[in-house]
Amino acid sequence: MKRYKDLSPSPRIILTPGPVEVDPRVSRALSYPMLGQFDPEFTALMNETMQMLRELFRTSNRWAFPVDGTSRSGLEAVLTGLIEPGDRVLVPIFGRFGYLLAEIAERCGAEVVTIETEWGTVFDPGEVIDAIDRLKPDLIAIVHGETSTGRMQPLEAIGRACRERELLLIVDAVATIGGVPVETDAWQLDAVIGGTQKCLSVPSGMSPITYNDRVEAKLMRRKRIEKGIQPDGYIEKDPSLFIRSNYLDLTQLQDYWSPQRLNHHTEATAMLYGLREGLRLVLEEGLEERFARHRLHERALVAGLEAMGLTRYGDDSCKMPVVTCVCIPSNVDGEAVRSQLLADFGIEIASSFGPLKGQIWRIGTMGYSCRKSNILLGLAALEAVLPLHGASIVPGAAISAALVIYAEGAKPDA
Ligand SMILES: Cc1ncc(COP(=O)(O)O)c(C=O)c1O
Repeated sequence: MKRYKDLSPSPRIILTPGPVEVDPRVSRALSYPMLGQFDPEFTALMNETMQMLRELFRTSNRWAFPVDGTSRSGLEAVLTGLIEPGDRVLVPIFGRFGYLLAEIAERCGAEVVTIETEWGTVFDPGEVIDAIDRLKPDLIAIVHGETSTGRMQPLEAIGRACRERELLLIVDAVATIGGVPVETDAWQLDAVIGGTQKCLSVPSGMSPITYNDRVEAKLMRRKRIEKGIQPDGYIEKDPSLFIRSNYLDLTQLQDYWSPQRLNHHTEATAMLYGLREGLRLVLEEGLEERFARHRLHERALVAGLEAMGLTRYGDDSCKMPVVTCVCIPSNVDGEAVRSQLLADFGIEIASSFGPLKGQIWRIGTMGYSCRKSNILLGLAALEAVLPLHGASIVPGAAISAALVIYAEGAKPDA
């Protein structure tokens, strides 16, 4: 007797800030035949993936590889590797994922100091630099694109200030990598953590990271303490300074990703195929072209929402181009609208966290999900559903407003 039905997930239009739809080429790559993790054919794919990641992160760092696990694994690997117990870590917080950085840092034994700014805004870089000078942290961890509020923190001046003060800057670019510029070298970011399931349109399960020599030097110093060996002789081992994870120990991971291929974990080979194909798609499209595509669809979405009479949440000057936050009209049950969009149209938009729960919807325009048909269908569905839930919107205006943007975007000089 057949107890469980065949797996047959419903087709969806995913307009959330992740996970988003996967390009069919990535899905295909995920199903390719297995290779052993030390098969030269596979290790050649690993090397190619590292090179593709350098291009994605815009860096000449030696180290650029995926950590197996969701984006949190990349965050934990970097923070666990860099934070020694008692280190003072500054986390500027402008949304939910700032709290995640603070929580991980605390678990690593850091003395966490935070500064916070109102949700829906970001920091003036000067505020962060003042906090650095006042609080004298050992390192700084900050989110680039805060999906909970849809805001993006400018990083260039903060990167410069950290470099001048010889402080390490760690950046969560989980939601921005592949959708908007992340300039690892030009902005002087020491370690950057990306995500697969957002603008790269690869399923969740790997976290691409990159870090520079300054980070590696700190990791290796801890490694030497663990081994009890220094360049000039033996030192006493100090267990309190060991990297507190085996799975996420970057010194071991980099040995595995180096030509030595020192055995560590069993690589998630199918995920690597998927990531490599996702990166190939990004680089084939071209980073600048991809950023422009994300901008165009964001503009079309925003024009449609505005034409409907909906209000956007947050400060537009720091809006993430890949997430649009919409205020739920006061008389409308946001969850009921989301449920109907899913049930009747197969369209998913996101709710929100903490103080914004029930206040805003978050609409993602990321990766393969970010395309004209999805935007138009999303707008049409919202326009149809909202009046049924008591919202008074301007009927019949959204699609034409979006189409005007697409027509402008199609002009050669647009
Ligand atoms: C900005 C940001 N950082 C970190 C994460 C955590 O990523 P994951 O759920 O893949 O571990 C997310 C996930 O939504 C995110 O949006």
